[in-house]
Amino acid sequence: MTGRVTDSGGRPVPDTLIEIWQTNAAGRYRHSREHHPAPLDPNFDGIGRAITDSAGRYRFVTIQPGAYPWGNHYNAWRPAHIHFSLFGRAFTQRLVTQMYFPGDPLLPLDPIFNSVPDERARQRMIAAFDIELTQPEWALGYQWDIVLRGRDAAVFE
Ligand SMILES: [Fe+2]
Repeated sequence: MTGRVTDSGGRPVPDTLIEIWQTNAAGRYRHSREHHPAPLDPNFDGIGRAITDSAGRYRFVTIQPGAYPWGNHYNAWRPAHIHFSLFGRAFTQRLVTQMYFPGDPLLPLDPIFNSVPDERARQRMIAAFDIELTQPEWALGYQWDIVLRGRDAAVFE
């Protein structure tokens, strides 16, 4: 997955630290407070860090996370997502958000995704599948851009 971090004027935000955390393919976090009994993946920690390049671009090679039950209500499942944290120019500018995958049937049912009232803002939380980024016999490619401020800003928690 890759994308660009830009400011409200579309200017790239270089040298910014991005951290991600996510479940493995079975929907399990590697975390001491995790209660979902899905198996851990011995080859996957579920965390990553990258610094944006001079064009504001980041790239992660990861696995597609799984949906997981979260007990918020009967038969409650979180849609597959990746948590993102971005550090801006200062340590106090940490921004946290979630990225979702296109076509996920759980999205219309998810109270967290739907807590964002604006339809266009919700759509900006969904990555785009990209066949050009996709590499044969290796990995699907997704594109997800993050706008820090302004009318098209990403939804931050
Ligand atoms: Fe999560």
